Amino acid sequence: MKNIFIKNIKGLVQVGENLPNRIGGIDASKVPVIENAFLALEDGCKVVAYGSMEDWDGIDDWRNLEVIDAEGCYVLPAFCDAHTHSVFAQTREGEFVDRINGLSYEEIALKGGGILNSARALSALSEDELYERSYKRVEKIIESGTGALEIKSGYGLTVEAELKMLRVIKRIKAEAPIEIKATFLGAHAFPTTYKNNHEGYIEEIISKMLPAIAEEGLADYIDVFCERNYFSVAEMERILLAGKSIGLIPKVHVNQFSTMGGVESAIKLGALSVDHLEELSNQDLMVLKESKCMPTFLPGCSHFLGIPFGKAIALINEGIPFALASDFNPGSTPCYSMSQIWSLACIKMKLTPEQALNAMTINAAYAMGLEKTHGKISLGLNAPIIMTKPISSLAYIPYSFGEHLIQRIFTKHNAE
Ligand code: NIG
Ligand code: FE
Repeated sequence: MKNIFIKNIKGLVQVGENLPNRIGGIDASKVPVIENAFLALEDGCKVVAYGSMEDWDGIDDWRNLEVIDAEGCYVLPAFCDAHTHSVFAQTREGEFVDRINGLSYEEIALKGGGILNSARALSALSEDELYERSYKRVEKIIESGTGALEIKSGYGLTVEAELKMLRVIKRIKAEAPIEIKATFLGAHAFPTTYKNNHEGYIEEIISKMLPAIAEEGLADYIDVFCERNYFSVAEMERILLAGKSIGLIPKVHVNQFSTMGGVESAIKLGALSVDHLEELSNQDLMVLKESKCMPTFLPGCSHFLGIPFGKAIALINEGIPFALASDFNPGSTPCYSMSQIWSLACIKMKLTPEQALNAMTINAAYAMGLEKTHGKISLGLNAPIIMTKPISSLAYIPYSFGEHLIQRIFTKHNAE
């Protein structure tokens, strides 16, 4: 058991009791901060006391205690990354060069690249090898300040390879010092063998993959890539309904390149989040406003593919909460750093640092079903916490894009 006392914190951020579980509109412009603060953690990261240094009345028990002087540093709840494809076999920089030379992301996919390229590479790896490569990646993700991570399957596209991916995610769940959520994305693309038989692949998902997933308890959520050339709204509905029948909550890719009605349909089916939304119709906006679903923007994908950034300001004006996530994957977003996402959200989506931070902590925790335990610093919570390097202000983090400013992350494993 290891206890930690952090003193002289320049700003203790997103801290307090009774903070909301989702935050939108004007409220999202504020983030509670205690200046010149202290924070006491038990067993690695359980919050047992915090406050202003002026109110600190000493420590009774100095045994097993690490004292950290955080002068000039900020302390925040670790970022929650509610949308990633962190398990994959290899990177795809060849396609990046193809795009520089004029091909579009959609053209590359139609030629058998893209998701199918990742699926070919993954099918050649053993489960152990895939686990080793992916776990190393997850360690780097945690070092960058992410304290809860959603990971999707979807580079398998056969019963065997989808299960391999999900088993790898299950092993990461058991090993990692942070909360991991697993999402089944068998409906990520139609594999070549089912190119002209979409019905056959959907049948494979429903009658073979889902029962095996239920039996081994391999997933929390179900996702579908609802997009032209991928899965139609009607196909998405069938797959989500089948997923729901084994207890998987929908959390979907919609509106990346086109608006097809996927937002409304996913929300009707109880989606926890609808993600991407580079394209968004007024009808989508109205449906979101009436729902408890968390729209999730992925500015790293917009940046890397050169597609529109989500219209987050329109959501703020309507009082609709939203989350930001990395979408880390080898094709459309090879960046897992939530500090970079913070920068992009401010620079490209015109969010203030506070609006973006709320979307990466409180609202992102909600988009992973972790709103009761993550995304804030409150007494009794036991979620990862990050400490920055000495910086001039909180806004310096998104401002200084490209600089790695996370000095340390406190997790349950620090307790050992
Ligand atoms: O969220 N759009 C669908 N899926 C991923 C990209 C997958 C890939 O290119 O490997 C995304 O952007
Ligand atoms: Fe994605």
